[in-house]
Amino acid sequence: MILRAALLAGGLATAAAAEDRRTGYEMMSPELRAMQDDEMSNPGMLWVAEGAALWEAPEGPAGRSCAGCHGEAAQSMAGVAARYPAWDEASGAPVDLSGRIALCRTRHQGAEALEHESRPLLALAAYVARQSDGRPIAPDPDPRLDPWRETGRVLFTARMGQLNLACANCHDDHAGGRLGAAPIPEAHPTGYPQYRLQWEEMGGLHRRFGNCLTGIRAKPFAAGSPDYVALELYLMSRAAGLPLEAPAVRP
Ligand code: HEC
Ligand code: HEC
Repeated sequence: MILRAALLAGGLATAAAAEDRRTGYEMMSPELRAMQDDEMSNPGMLWVAEGAALWEAPEGPAGRSCAGCHGEAAQSMAGVAARYPAWDEASGAPVDLSGRIALCRTRHQGAEALEHESRPLLALAAYVARQSDGRPIAPDPDPRLDPWRETGRVLFTARMGQLNLACANCHDDHAGGRLGAAPIPEAHPTGYPQYRLQWEEMGGLHRRFGNCLTGIRAKPFAAGSPDYVALELYLMSRAAGLPLEAPAVRP
């Protein structure tokens, strides 16, 4: 209720206390939660292991690895996923975690670009995110991100698609209810990239956005597009304080 009042007031919903909100994890069956919690049965751990190997792999003409610059991920990457997206000085725009990793590939390794949603980029993002498992979401307070957060809020509340529905119609107004067989979550981006049973693989938050847009018969934006990064910035501020799940499992 506090969340809804904050949205109606037009402000960012960071005022809502973490205990008033429920993550997708809390809405899952005990069986799925157990699958996520157990490293041996969580299918996302396969991507984390692949990411750990890529972290050490030399790339580009100078043969530099991620580890060559960043050292032990357990130290250098702890908390990073919990505060992304962040500002990128060089491009004068925000980047999400996958965007940042892709930029390190091209700028710092001189290697070929990795596409959003490609397997190696998902694996690296899953490995980096793993270093923040359980940490509270702590959005970057950089004021240059504020106009983008506001753009994301506007997108979240704008009616779209042939069904003429806003994200907020389901995820604020009817969160906790059902859409057919599926429980409607509050859309907290606490567990990305995630292993979705429906996908039978790991996928990113922007792919999830695309699923919801297709559901309301709207045309999805491209993964990594500025509109999706703005939506992500808004949803991360709305989820501030909730625990990050890496890797998450969803139905
Ligand atoms: C018609 C209702 C509806 C609308 C509109 C909708 N969604 Fe969803 N969304 C769902 C349902 C239902 C799920 C649960 C997943 C499933 O089983 O499909 C979901 C899941 C999600 C999740 C995953 C949460 C988690 O725990 O991982 C996110 C994030 C999300 N939606 C964001 C959005 C955004 C952003 C928009 C607007 C662009 C949007 N949704 C529009 C119904 C909707
Ligand atoms: C040659 C050194 C170098 C290499 C190799 C490198 N990075 Fe980076 N990385 C940087 C620098 C410098 C930054 C700060 C942002 C910038 O200037 O691009 C950074 C920033 C980051 C950040 C954001 C950290 C934060 O606190 O915001 C992540 C995540 C990251 N790198 C991941 C990777 C991954 C994954 C790889 C391997 C695919 C990699 N980096 C390879 C130099 C490197």
